[in-house]
Amino acid sequence: MTVRLRASTAADVDGLAALGGQAFAVARTPVDPAHRHYLLAEHRRVVGEDGGRLVAHAGAWSFGQWFGGGRLPCAGVAGVSVAPEARGDGVGTALVTHLLRTVRDQGDVVATLYPMNHRFYRSLGFGPSSVRRRDRVPTRELARTRPPNGPGAGAGPAGPVTLRPATLDDVPAMEAVIVRRARAGNGLLDHEPRHAARLAGGASGSTYAWVAVDATGTVAGFLASEHVPAVEPGELFSVSVTDLAADDVAVEAELWRLVGADHPGARTVEAALPAGSLPRLAGEREITPVSDFTLMSRLLDVEGALLARGWPPGSDGELLFDVVDPLFADNAGPLRLTVRSGVAEVARGGAGPGRATDPVTVDIATLSSLVTGYLDPVTAARAGLLPGASPDDLTTMRRLLAGPAPHTVEFF
Ligand SMILES: CC(C)(COP(=O)(O)OP(=O)(O)OC[C@H]1O[C@@H](n2cnc3c(N)ncnc32)[C@H](O)[C@@H]1OP(=O)(O)O)[C@@H](O)C(=O)NCCC(=O)NCCS
Repeated sequence: MTVRLRASTAADVDGLAALGGQAFAVARTPVDPAHRHYLLAEHRRVVGEDGGRLVAHAGAWSFGQWFGGGRLPCAGVAGVSVAPEARGDGVGTALVTHLLRTVRDQGDVVATLYPMNHRFYRSLGFGPSSVRRRDRVPTRELARTRPPNGPGAGAGPAGPVTLRPATLDDVPAMEAVIVRRARAGNGLLDHEPRHAARLAGGASGSTYAWVAVDATGTVAGFLASEHVPAVEPGELFSVSVTDLAADDVAVEAELWRLVGADHPGARTVEAALPAGSLPRLAGEREITPVSDFTLMSRLLDVEGALLARGWPPGSDGELLFDVVDPLFADNAGPLRLTVRSGVAEVARGGAGPGRATDPVTVDIATLSSLVTGYLDPVTAARAGLLPGASPDDLTTMRRLLAGPAPHTVEFF
């Protein structure tokens, strides 16, 4: 089989639905024209063709992924699939490599994805980078959600915000809430408009969305959720929270109570409840883990990523790396990272007068896991992944990469 890779066109849409349907066990039917504007842009897709038949596809959303308060232009890689009869022959490797070059040329400094297949992506330089965790909680618990203490405690249904159904016009303000949340975390994404539009609730007949508007008319939070089949006897349906984000804890409480308003039609709700989310903080809850999905990321432009991510305010440190990247030659080789008062500089090349001379050798997958804050440097060194790292280097890495555990909310 001779597979030719090329950029995708609008004419590929239905062929891609069949290919993706087979790979991921979803509908193989032609795409409803009304939903085409929710699809990936053509200039962010690569397809493989064998004699005019589509046998491979990979695409990428255009997101920002936030680390240490800084935004990294991010390719959210999705829909990677090779037809079964073409697998195991290098097509997948050539396909994803082509996509990574394409999005790198478009300015992305990191690629992030939900791997079904870790070995495949590790061979392309991806390392584990964050976790999407889902939990189940009874709706009746959420109906009573209150901030545990402090401002907003005791705010009732008539409290400081107004809740109303979201419309497409609210999407930019909802994204602004997402960005404010992302600045304080690690690994969180913002979205290109066509992906963000899904949050407004119109993407299917079972999706809903509300915004929380404060007294000044500003959107200070939102809830996007879906009614899904019942998981417990006695409930008509269950609720799956696509995302719930709020600027402060009082608004968050209002939105969780809104989820609880589906009790008892729905007795259960599934949602991402990271450490610090209100249902976890507010006393005893019946929370059951449902799933843990580890995402993988790959730095496409090491220098660009180190300059874009944020570093702890006031932090100082210097590290000399020797980067191993078989795919992108200009990532490879010696690189010096200097952080002064929380601001990074990156210089190419080896030793300089009065500076550290022994580099830490690091492959691109390990470096990606470190820069995202997922992999602890001391653990990595112990596993033999950081040859040449001195105890001082490891202390410096831990100090510079300190921050909340990276997590992701949405699926893409
Ligand atoms: C994953 C997939 C795209 C790989 O395509 P492919 O053309 O078979 O990949 P390649 O031939 O280039 O394989 C490259 C390497 O990936 C690894 N790999 C590929 N498929 C694998 C599988 N099913 N299980 C484990 N490792 C696999 C192997 O290490 C292989 O290297 P090797 O040949 O030295 O063993 C393809 O199997 C597929 O479409 N699977 C179904 C959909 C899917 O899982 N997509 C990924 C979603 S995130």
